[in-house]
Amino acid sequence: MNHFRIAVIVGSLRRDSFNRKLAEAIATLAPPAFSFSQVPIGDLPLYNQDDDACPAASVRRLKADIAATQGLLFVTPEYNRSIPGVLKNAIDHASRPYGQNAWAGKPAGVLGVSVGAIGTALAQQHLRNILAYLDVPTLGQPEAFIQAKEGLFDEAGNIGANSQGFLQGWMDRYVAWVARHAA
Ligand code: FNR
Repeated sequence: MNHFRIAVIVGSLRRDSFNRKLAEAIATLAPPAFSFSQVPIGDLPLYNQDDDACPAASVRRLKADIAATQGLLFVTPEYNRSIPGVLKNAIDHASRPYGQNAWAGKPAGVLGVSVGAIGTALAQQHLRNILAYLDVPTLGQPEAFIQAKEGLFDEAGNIGANSQGFLQGWMDRYVAWVARHAA
């Protein structure tokens, strides 16, 4: 395989989301064989198991978007020491109906930025727990707990100079992880 399509799932719906900015900026650090597309999750209904047999168009689109990719990138804030409800809702949707888990086997990376000092560490840990159950091979190291600080992004929206080395290293490990598991 010489091209890898990555589904990017951003756990914030906020207009000026730091996590969306991070998702956009870090994608530019990947080699040309990788392309990244954000998967919309804000229009999904609340998950209701009654609807498994007749899912909404947005749910069918979510599952098709995931199926068309070779890897996943989750970029999420921490809400009250866990992942945001919108992200859990999307994960639940694509995991069902039972036996038709769209996430299974897709190699994943987990990133997050928050204004708090622990930089989404607890949200990421909760997310890893969910992904393990869903049979998603998730990059373990390096972990990236990022605090939203002046200079994280430059004027053009790229990763700021002080964080570039670390996040380039993260991306290098991530692309190797995807290539290994998607093969
Ligand atoms: C937060 N925030 C937050 N930050 C953190 O480090 N740990 C936390 O547990 C929480 N909890 C939390 C709950 C709720 C409901 C909100 C709205 C916010 C702050 C959070 O890091 C901040 O709002 C980020 O800017 C959210 O990410 P986006 O939207 O900028 O991507």
